[in-house]
Amino acid sequence: MIYFVTSNRHKYEEVKKIIGYEMEMVSMPYPEIQADSLEEVAKYGIDYLKDKIEGEFFIEDSGLFIKALNGFPGVFSSYVFKTIGNEGIIRLMKGIEDRKAEFVSVIAYYDDDKIHIFKGICKGKIAEEIRGNKGFGYDPIFIAEGSNKTFGEMEMEEKNKYSHRGKSARMLKNFLKNRLNQP
Ligand code: IMP
Repeated sequence: MIYFVTSNRHKYEEVKKIIGYEMEMVSMPYPEIQADSLEEVAKYGIDYLKDKIEGEFFIEDSGLFIKALNGFPGVFSSYVFKTIGNEGIIRLMKGIEDRKAEFVSVIAYYDDDKIHIFKGICKGKIAEEIRGNKGFGYDPIFIAEGSNKTFGEMEMEEKNKYSHRGKSARMLKNFLKNRLNQP
């Protein structure tokens, strides 16, 4: 059994769908430091949790990076979502032609005193308006490359094919599979 420490059920469901492996959600809060990169935030979280959780576990930290806003909200994505939300981002992007953005997901997996990092990136753009009510967070304003729909208009399986978290979760799945095959 492995544990995904998160208080976000959407994240858990998305990863669970991919991993298939026996996995449980643990909603133990941990501090999210203000750092320059998602990796640093995740590593700090692991250090805090490693003495509190028995067995192998992982956390996931993600963010939305908008090119025309120099990567904002990035590591501040959670706070920005709580304060200005999707309406606020659409307002900030009003009249801006370059709508390129990317979602990034960093999974930090802890086993045997080691931290393994898996990073998934999904390139795309910010929609002109809020569309769809599926998923969570910035899903209704993000359109992945190769699709015309926002993540908010996709079922979870379809979002997983494109998404940052789908990619990082598949990397974790491969890692677990290869480890099992080792003598
Ligand atoms: P955190 O990783 O829990 O700190 O999340 C960062 C912020 O990015 C949260 O406000 C989420 O709502 C948002 N976010 C992360 N991943 C996604 C996603 O897959 N879709 C939409 N919003 C996301």
